[in-house]
Amino acid sequence: MSDSNNNRKPASSLLSRNSASSINRTSNTILSDSSSTTRSALLTSNNTTARSTTSFFNSNTARTTSPLSSRTTMSSDRGQFTPSRFPGATEVSIQAQLAGFRRVQEKQFDENQVSKVAIHSREVTEMQYRRFASFIEKQSGIVLGDGKQYLVNSRLSTLLIRFNIPSIDDLIDKAMDPIANKEISSAVIDAMTTNETLWFRDTYPYLALKNLILPEFAMQRKSQVRIWSAACSSGQEPYSIAMVIQEQATAMNKVDPSQCQILATDISPEMLARSKAGLYDNHALARGLSLERKQKFFNPTEDPNVMSIDNSIKQMVQFRQFNLLSTFNLLGKFDVIFCRNVLIYFNNEVKASILDKFASCLNPRGYLILGSSESISGLTDKYEMVRCNPGLAYRLK
Ligand SMILES: C[S@@+](CC[C@H](N)C(=O)[O-])C[C@H]1O[C@@H](n2cnc3c(N)ncnc32)[C@H](O)[C@@H]1O
Repeated sequence: MSDSNNNRKPASSLLSRNSASSINRTSNTILSDSSSTTRSALLTSNNTTARSTTSFFNSNTARTTSPLSSRTTMSSDRGQFTPSRFPGATEVSIQAQLAGFRRVQEKQFDENQVSKVAIHSREVTEMQYRRFASFIEKQSGIVLGDGKQYLVNSRLSTLLIRFNIPSIDDLIDKAMDPIANKEISSAVIDAMTTNETLWFRDTYPYLALKNLILPEFAMQRKSQVRIWSAACSSGQEPYSIAMVIQEQATAMNKVDPSQCQILATDISPEMLARSKAGLYDNHALARGLSLERKQKFFNPTEDPNVMSIDNSIKQMVQFRQFNLLSTFNLLGKFDVIFCRNVLIYFNNEVKASILDKFASCLNPRGYLILGSSESISGLTDKYEMVRCNPGLAYRLK
């Protein structure tokens, strides 16, 4: 299976990764895993270390810390913003602006450094590629498959300058020692993720939410609805869910938006920083968003190319770094799980394990919504298929 959309990174998007890696983000990567013991340690930053669900949802940490400050050395998204004060801007968006400015400065710094970093090789050797593929698979589940050296070369090249490392082989050596080189390891794994996403992707999951799932919850008079966007990338998926919940608030059978909690997680710190910032350029806004929704749920910023998501939507979503290979025990129970366009990167054994873990954290008759090219067939018998016309969802048996 392949996620055809993943072949296309938003070209020249101010908010996308750097163009060098975008061009080559054509991975047919599959993901797999066998052990998960050290992964969450590696990929969980100290302020996102597993917390109880309640404390997580009650916490304001995500809103009061700079969303991008921990990413200021990422060369890939530098230069997105100029520092500016936006009317009505939230703390987060101001911080994002400032972080953007710092990155512009760092970019200039890095560009000056280019000549000083003695790059020996931007190409991974065959033997190192095999070791690296196995490392990435163990850490994230991503199966690189054969012949993806070009992908590794293009995605890791920018990290050579960032970490002042002379060759991809050396970078990989360091990355494979996550205890000694946690930041490098995390950045390397992050660079190997594919983050293609768009607003209301495939439409039908959001119609199912609006026409089938939320009315069902309203009929059941559920006091609280918990939804998990389990591979949220840059935030379009959880924010689209939040918009649907807001829109149905005027329906006859409605779920009160204030009773809805949306947890959005991803393995990628960079994507989480973008998600939390809630700033989207015109290119991203043009992908899947109607004019009406754009006007209703986004605010202009000083930069005519960038809009910020409205606080009414933003405050419905909590973001947290989370590796799907780790244990789900501390996440609590959910009524709906969106896990879209990420299982395709995993091998069947890992898919089956994740599907079973989802089942164990769904409330009775809770829903699982997968990507349009993903299925549970042959992997688990814990769900029944629900036809939504169009599309389908899976309900816990
Ligand atoms: C193609 S995007 C899908 C985004 C969104 N769900 C959608 O359908 O538009 C896949 C996302 O999965 C994330 N991912 C990859 N491996 C992961 C893992 N082991 N745990 C959590 N997230 C992972 C990537 O960082 C990336 O943002």
